[in-house]
Amino acid sequence: MPDVFCGTEDVLKFTKYLQRMNGIRGPKPSLISGNFYELKENPNETFDEWIAEYGNHFGYFLGDRPILMISDLDVIQNIFLKNSKQFKDRPKFFLNAKPFVSSVLALRGERWRHVRRLMTPFFTHHKISSQEITDIVVNSVDTCVLKIMTQKEQIVKVDDRMQSITLDIICKCGLNMYDTDVHEENSQLKSAAKEFMASAHNSVVIFATFFPFLRPILSFINNYLTAGRMADWILRHLNKQIQTETQNLSANPNYSIDTKSNNVLKSMLKCFLEKKLERDELTGNALILLLAAYDTTSMGLTYAFYCLAKHQDIQNTLREEIGLHGYQSRYVDMVWSESLRLFPPVATFAQREAAEDVVLNDIFIQKGTIVQLPIWHINHDPNIWPEPHKFNPQRFLPENSDGDERARASFLTFGLGPRTCMGIELARHEARYTLSKMVQKFRIETCAQTPDPLELICPTEILYPKDGLYLRFIPLNE
Ligand code: HEM
Repeated sequence: MPDVFCGTEDVLKFTKYLQRMNGIRGPKPSLISGNFYELKENPNETFDEWIAEYGNHFGYFLGDRPILMISDLDVIQNIFLKNSKQFKDRPKFFLNAKPFVSSVLALRGERWRHVRRLMTPFFTHHKISSQEITDIVVNSVDTCVLKIMTQKEQIVKVDDRMQSITLDIICKCGLNMYDTDVHEENSQLKSAAKEFMASAHNSVVIFATFFPFLRPILSFINNYLTAGRMADWILRHLNKQIQTETQNLSANPNYSIDTKSNNVLKSMLKCFLEKKLERDELTGNALILLLAAYDTTSMGLTYAFYCLAKHQDIQNTLREEIGLHGYQSRYVDMVWSESLRLFPPVATFAQREAAEDVVLNDIFIQKGTIVQLPIWHINHDPNIWPEPHKFNPQRFLPENSDGDERARASFLTFGLGPRTCMGIELARHEARYTLSKMVQKFRIETCAQTPDPLELICPTEILYPKDGLYLRFIPLNE
């Protein structure tokens, strides 16, 4: 009998658990919330404790939703790579939140495949490293450098500055939105974006997690009452662009959007006018790109600067390598990957739903069970990454990774398999410029306000430094 039911838990939950987890061990769920309230501010800490207690696979519940966490790399590969057809979809959102449910993040089955195939070409290395996108990135990073140079104090709130850079870039190259104020103090767009992220975890969403039968009414409330300034702002902007382009088309049936431009929104608008994308898919994807690109990359950069501030030797090597080889030095990529291994910004999002009953490595996984990738745990597994808590970019020397499937499956920061992150190239491009430019212009050090160790919180899906991250940026003489 699983440890889950050693007490006087109600029969209903007992039956549900046995039926849906099939005897897999795990923490005891409570009737309505499952194990929701046991997840700490940083759920990775709870997952590590559960893995230590229950072993390399166990089940827990979010509300009534059964989640199976597997930390054996062979089984992970079986699910996310080899048997990805049986595990192709993410679980449904708790709320039918429009238009997000029509985005590539949430679509399922053949429609997901179709939309992902349409969008993938906008994010290739070739497109992302084009002059047009590079100019946007360089311009934003330079503006940030200037802001830091001209501020009175040398102490910088790094997470906040990085949010300005990544929000600016995704607004311009993803949404064709050029009139942003994101580098200004009290930027309205930035505060709206923060509000937008925070609203992903409002009480309506929590209620929907606990009460499945209320989800339709809660979806209605969420869509019409709690959408927030950011969603309104972007939807208004998108609707204006859609209107202009459809008017152009009706005035001239031979009209075609100029997609020599690498602007993602223009490319998506073209797909919409050609009827390859529904209207909700266009707006949903535009919104989701902002959500997926902005805080993930800004927190990745924040953690990279934290690691560099704490390892002056590595910061010096990085500065020298950039001096010799420019921003495309492979050492920049190694620093980026290693800090993303140590501090993967996304916590629980990489999940897949079993489309049918499957037995893998002697584990019976029932149809409908959700399998979650333990990103943090695998990224810190000492059997895979010796001295896992040490910041050591050398791990990512190409000659130190044998390039096989096992190696690919052991760096999980961007997820795994066909539904892996679509923005890896854009994030890397932003990181190359930001890290290079900052270490060329500043020596970055810890200061009295820098936390050590860094405490992390995860209000939604993304890990943030609990009280922000403050570092000292000392200008270097050119
Ligand atoms: C350091 C930065 C980033 C991190 C750590 C990150 C991480 C992730 C993770 C863990 C997933 C889930 C993958 C899975 O389920 O296997 C994901 C999905 C996704 N990411 Fe990222 N991401 C980053 C940046 C970006 C950027 C810049 C964009 C957009 C331009 C983006 C767009 C997406 C999209 C669209 C998906 C859903 C893909 C699908 O379901 O087909 N991400 N990301």
